[in-house]
Amino acid sequence: MKGLLLAGGHGTRLRPLTYTGNKHMLPIANKPMLLYGLEHLKNAGIKEIGIILGPIKEGVVETIGDGSKFDLKVSYIDQPDPLGLAHAVKVSREFIGDDSFVMYLGDNLLKQGVKDFVRIFMERDLDCLVGVTSVKDPSRFGIAELDEKTGKIIKLVEKPKEPKSNLALIGVYVFNSTIFDAVSRIEPSWRNELEITDAIQLLVTEGRKVQVERVTGWWKDTGKPDDLLEANQLVLSDQSSEIKGEISEKAIVTGSLGLGVSSKIREGTSIRGPVIIGDNCEIGPDAYIGPYTSIGDNCVLKNVEIENSIVMKGSRIENKKRIVDSLVGAYSTILSNESIKPQGYKLVIGERSFLQI
Ligand code: DAU
Repeated sequence: MKGLLLAGGHGTRLRPLTYTGNKHMLPIANKPMLLYGLEHLKNAGIKEIGIILGPIKEGVVETIGDGSKFDLKVSYIDQPDPLGLAHAVKVSREFIGDDSFVMYLGDNLLKQGVKDFVRIFMERDLDCLVGVTSVKDPSRFGIAELDEKTGKIIKLVEKPKEPKSNLALIGVYVFNSTIFDAVSRIEPSWRNELEITDAIQLLVTEGRKVQVERVTGWWKDTGKPDDLLEANQLVLSDQSSEIKGEISEKAIVTGSLGLGVSSKIREGTSIRGPVIIGDNCEIGPDAYIGPYTSIGDNCVLKNVEIENSIVMKGSRIENKKRIVDSLVGAYSTILSNESIKPQGYKLVIGERSFLQI
């Protein structure tokens, strides 16, 4: 069994954060999003992983390399244009060979990982297993319509305008090599992509053994900025405290806190977890860091209130204001401008931004 981890595409919906790097390297609870998928594949016993990369490669190769530091063998597969998920399968033919494989969309997070999907695929000797879950907004996803009595797949549709089911494909698929023939026979869709749903539909129509399996636990697709905050909340909810830095006796910490090496929480600071703070950070004096906040390495936050936000590495915030529900790109600076007094800010700012608010 091999792994195919998708990290191509343009990440347009997450601009400006993705102007300067690959969206799959954006941090969720201080860990690049793509590493969650990589670890899930590893935990399912997979040792060889191919990563699909498009034109924006920044950060991925530097972080993952040849995979040896994760005890994995990682190769990179070039997909210059994001021509669809089935196209990503097509360009991976040589890497996959005749093996079965798990395809994992790198912008998805799921609590349970992929181990159960691999086990079920093998136990039932399937041609294809598709992970699904019920959603409130099915027209945003690929949807599976099932026969109510037998549970068998009737139809798979990509982002239907009028969905007949609320069962969304979560972006985890297990295939054997029959999928390669299917992807070679489909035509581009109305959005000019080779859709994996069309290729799987072909397997269904031709009587192959294709089944769906519901996820247990949470799942999140991180397409939009608010999704990143929600994914951050979900991961932090499961966090337990780990303190490697120093906390002043005059600071108050409640709830779970992850505090990195050489980081300092200074006097007059109040931290209400779950919160994660990276290495070499200076928090306070007089800061409030509220629930579901992630602060990357080498950040300085003084005299500020912040809650439910992601502050990326190397940023500095000193502004006597309350920042909520915000994404602050790496190496950004937010300082005060005393002449205006608003109540709160909601920010999505890209790398190396400078704000005076
Ligand atoms: O999130 C689950 C949904 O993911 C499924 O319900 C849909 O059936 C599936 O098509 C997909 O929809 P998205 O609109 O989220 O796909 P997106 O274009 O965002 O791409 C998903 C991931 O795959 C993302 O990490 C980028 C990567 N990708 C995408 C394309 C189209 C590639 O590496 N190459 C590609 O050609």
